[in-house]
Amino acid sequence: MPIDAKKLVKKASQLMKPVEKFQCESPRNTTTEGETITFDYAWATHLNDDDFEWVFALFKKNMMEMYQKSQWGYDENSKRNELRATTSRFIIAVNSKGEKIGYLTYRFVVDHNIPVTYCWELQISPSYQNKGVGGMMLNTLERLSEKAGMSKVMATVFLYNSPSLGFFHKNGFSEDVTCPSEDSGLDYAILSKATP
Ligand SMILES: CC(C)(COP(=O)(O)OP(=O)(O)OC[C@H]1O[C@@H](n2cnc3c(N)ncnc32)[C@H](O)[C@@H]1OP(=O)(O)O)[C@@H](O)C(=O)NCCC(=O)NCCS
Repeated sequence: MPIDAKKLVKKASQLMKPVEKFQCESPRNTTTEGETITFDYAWATHLNDDDFEWVFALFKKNMMEMYQKSQWGYDENSKRNELRATTSRFIIAVNSKGEKIGYLTYRFVVDHNIPVTYCWELQISPSYQNKGVGGMMLNTLERLSEKAGMSKVMATVFLYNSPSLGFFHKNGFSEDVTCPSEDSGLDYAILSKATP
């Protein structure tokens, strides 16, 4: 593995507030209806129990059925551990009333010897979906990826999650070189977008 990839990922993972440090928040901060959205940033290990339960409840509401029908299945404990992993970082979207309405979790990782920003979960509350919030968060992640020296942003999406596939494609993502082929029989795609 090129030493630089490991070094870059380690360095980026140690940053406490990278979006603030690099001032790379998305320039868009209003929904399609004109409501101002703000963002909080936290390491997973610094989320308090109430915040974490909100994170998990939204994951469950949006994704449980999709996981139940997937080849991976739905394993609550392993998902909880994943979301709370020490390398997991959160961007949390807050509406004008101060209510949390969505989150993106990401990690800096070395994937096939390349330093990448992995969009691990992107979950928007049902009443705020399709209002541009996910797009703002993904844009922030792309800008952060560039500042942190990562080569690309990656995401894994179930093949039957059409809204999410549509969302990532609209934002310029396409099949990653490591994406399983159509005849693999696997039920997910690995998408990516190169960092400029
Ligand atoms: C997918 C998700 C993260 C997108 O975030 P969002 O804030 O709703 O997305 P935005 O409003 O920024 O962008 C919406 C775009 O998504 C795409 N999209 C949404 N629904 C779609 C559908 N049924 N088919 C195709 N594309 C769709 C469109 O390109 C749409 O753009 P448009 O407004 O020009 O039509 C969000 O809807 C969500 O949380 N969904 C449930 C959980 C989930 O699937 N998470 C992703 C796991 S990988």
